[in-house]
Amino acid sequence: MNLTDVVLTRTSVRRYRPDPLTSLQREELGKAVRLCNERSGLRVRLVCERPEPFARLKSYGMLRGVRNYFVFAGPGNDPYLEEKCGYFGEELVLTAAAMGLGTCWVGGTYDKSNCLRHLEPGESLVCVAALGAPEEQGGREKLIAMATKRNTRTSAELARNYSGAPSWFMSGIASVQRAPSARNRQAYQFVWNNDGTVQAHVTGQHEFSLVDLGIAKYHFELGAHGGQWAWGSGGVFLKAEEEKSCGAVVWREREGQRQYLLARHNGGHWSFPKGHMEAGEKEAGTARREILEETGLETAIDTGFRRTVTYYPKAGVVKDVVFFTASPSGGQEHAQEEEIAEIGWFSFQEACSLITFASDEDVLLAADQYLSKK
Ligand SMILES: Cc1cc2nc3c(=O)[nH]c(=O)nc-3n(C[C@H](O)[C@H](O)[C@H](O)COP(=O)(O)O)c2cc1C
Repeated sequence: MNLTDVVLTRTSVRRYRPDPLTSLQREELGKAVRLCNERSGLRVRLVCERPEPFARLKSYGMLRGVRNYFVFAGPGNDPYLEEKCGYFGEELVLTAAAMGLGTCWVGGTYDKSNCLRHLEPGESLVCVAALGAPEEQGGREKLIAMATKRNTRTSAELARNYSGAPSWFMSGIASVQRAPSARNRQAYQFVWNNDGTVQAHVTGQHEFSLVDLGIAKYHFELGAHGGQWAWGSGGVFLKAEEEKSCGAVVWREREGQRQYLLARHNGGHWSFPKGHMEAGEKEAGTARREILEETGLETAIDTGFRRTVTYYPKAGVVKDVVFFTASPSGGQEHAQEEEIAEIGWFSFQEACSLITFASDEDVLLAADQYLSKK
């Protein structure tokens, strides 16, 4: 599940099972926190198996069984600290939800003093978010139904001047409708400007209004599919230009073992064969053409597996790369000189350690699981 899908299913979870996070979950969340801190300058911590801030104060809210949480904190002198905690924190919360964990932002109903000991001098604590195995686990349909029933603001309340706005603006607003906020206030508005930009304004002040604004900005960006926000109430959003590529995890079987085809691009990174979609092409057609051009191999594309990786290749551009699985059906293997330095077949383990980007490694993992089940 990608983060855009998670927005459709996430609701706050307030009751947790005592099961500890698995080592894989801890590792993945730890990695996400490290990356978040590098990008944002925040000092977010992942705290595991420490129920104290939620255990002692029985009268505090309705949270039960919380043992794991993110502590959202950062430099006390950062003028945008709260908004950044909301923006980057929501990415972490959705990442945890994508792993099947329950989550809940918590600003008031926990023992704040207990969390202060994780901080260093000069840092300020903004709030926390509980995470763990949810007591009740529903399927996707049930989760969507629950998320839809929530009493959130209408798009007419959240958006201003939207009559001539493009569809990406309304998709952004639809995503903001599903943004969590303290006491479910959603005290902000998004304005479509006729010069093609968007501004987000706080419409009511309360203790967590700027955290809420940061969360809402993150949701808008996900729904609008990429762009860049300026911090602050009234901050401007510039929509990113969209690019699309398609490719495939190409596999074959040799002596009972699956092997994967990787290409070392001239830029130096190891990845799957893939390339730009041309006008009039369908996704599978692009994948087939690009594999043939880059590796000389004809392939049968299996669209039953489809994963999208989204990233910003340069400022102002957002790129989707759609991957299928494929197996060779003919052709003569050779690397396309202009773009590819070398190609080769590797076992799953070898491929995992060669692949340069973590997002491609996730695709390989998912493709390997898919092929094992086929
Ligand atoms: C900044 C912030 C602080 C919050 N503080 C609390 C809290 O102290 N206790 C609590 O039970 N829920 C808290 N929540 C969760 C909200 O009540 C919840 O997100 C909102 O009601 C919307 O529901 P949803 O998350 O299911 O969409 C907080 C949410 C945010 C964003």
